[in-house]
Amino acid sequence: MATVVSIFPILLWTMMAFQANPLQAKGIQVLPPANFTLTVTALAKILLQWKPNPDQEQKNYTVRYDVEIMTPVWEVYDTKYTHSTRTAVLHNGFSARIRTLLLYNNSQIESNWVTAKLQAPSGAVETSVTNLSCVIYTAINNIASLNCTWLAGEMAPKDTKYFLFYRYNSYTEECQEYSKDKWERNIGCRFPYTYIKTSEIGQLVVIHINGSSKYTAIKPFEQLFYENTIEKVNPPRNVTMSLKQNNLQINWEEPVSFFQNTCFEYELSIHNLKMGYKQILKTKANSFELLIDDTCRYSIQIKANRQSWCNEGFWSDWTDPLYIGKDQPGTPIDSKASMVLSALVVSICSMAMLIAIICRRCHLWSRLFPPIPTPKTNLKYLFLNNNYQRARSCTSETETEIGSYPEDFRSYTEDLYSDVLEDSVI
Ligand SMILES: *[C@@H]1O[C@H](CO)[C@@H](O)[C@H](O)[C@H]1NC(C)=O
Ligand SMILES: *[C@@H]1O[C@H](CO)[C@@H](O)[C@H](O)[C@H]1NC(C)=O
Ligand SMILES: *[C@@H]1O[C@H](CO)[C@@H](O)[C@H](O)[C@H]1NC(C)=O
Repeated sequence: MATVVSIFPILLWTMMAFQANPLQAKGIQVLPPANFTLTVTALAKILLQWKPNPDQEQKNYTVRYDVEIMTPVWEVYDTKYTHSTRTAVLHNGFSARIRTLLLYNNSQIESNWVTAKLQAPSGAVETSVTNLSCVIYTAINNIASLNCTWLAGEMAPKDTKYFLFYRYNSYTEECQEYSKDKWERNIGCRFPYTYIKTSEIGQLVVIHINGSSKYTAIKPFEQLFYENTIEKVNPPRNVTMSLKQNNLQINWEEPVSFFQNTCFEYELSIHNLKMGYKQILKTKANSFELLIDDTCRYSIQIKANRQSWCNEGFWSDWTDPLYIGKDQPGTPIDSKASMVLSALVVSICSMAMLIAIICRRCHLWSRLFPPIPTPKTNLKYLFLNNNYQRARSCTSETETEIGSYPEDFRSYTEDLYSDVLEDSVI
């Protein structure tokens, strides 16, 4: 078995060698292309150009060129043209090689390679920006804005000034709205309007950040982003709900987006406000049906993204919450209500403390000077808002008068008394 398998590659190789021979057998020379040059024509855009070798024998041969990009990202292709354009980050330099291919019938021969290089731009180590991230927002009127943030390089001096440029197709713009770190170095940029457009998938946004400093050369940095992958998707539109008995039907419309809008997915957040739990549900449809307990109140929010097979971006924000359910209709237990509630608790507690202090004092005073009412006890009347009889119980110490208080207030007062007694023992 093994011998049979190994025979085939040998046969194939021999046949190919014979086929390649006709050109070589005729003693045909293939010469490498001439004057291979690299030119940066825009940010992260490079033009490779060469000439056919003037000494190359023409005849009926087909001439093509093999191109091999070596840095920054390895890539090979062949072309009949004598030029080629590539988009690539250039902050680490660029290198490529080419050779001539001569084709005749089904055989081909290749020349030697010729290589060209672009040096990396100069700059001190770790002065270039790091952690660059960018987000595209699409407004309803289909105008895209662009926000980028980054960190200053570890070794970037404090006086470093960074400059950000973006390129989209043939448009290049410099940032006008920077945000700054504590040393006033630019570390963020906002373009409220850009040339970024609705487009075919796979359009690139080029970001270039260079800089200057009095003390050292700042190394530039470039990054390429596929526009769809950095789009912050808008939330779904026109969310509506209808409740039939326990059956909640939620409908919504696709978000406004630049890119393919047939492949969204959604997450629903169903928050049961009464029970205090949250459920996250996923769907690819534009509606959702759900059985709910209609004695509870719910808040419902939705967010959107494109599905991963279809150029997902960043998840949208949640939609504004919509409420449904019978629990306390019209008054959702929102943060405002809970704030009022906690304010109430705090004021009740502080009032109780005040009363405790007053009672303590008046209790002591009542022992020292039983018949004389004091200004401090008068204060207590004010807070308790009780009539004179009840207020007097604070000074009289008698069970019967305390008994005229409502049930829970009495036990509270008893606690206070025991507290006071402990106090007076010390
Ligand atoms: C290559 O460049 C040199 C110098 O610019 C020029 O003299 C020569 O004609 C060019 N060769 C070809 C084949 O264009
Ligand atoms: C910056 O990026 C590096 C590597 O990706 C990461 O380890 C680091 O936490 C990031 N720093 C900040 C502040 O995000
Ligand atoms: C930064 O890059 C822009 C665009 O390529 C260029 O015009 C500018 O001179 C550069 N600035 C520095 C300080 O390198």
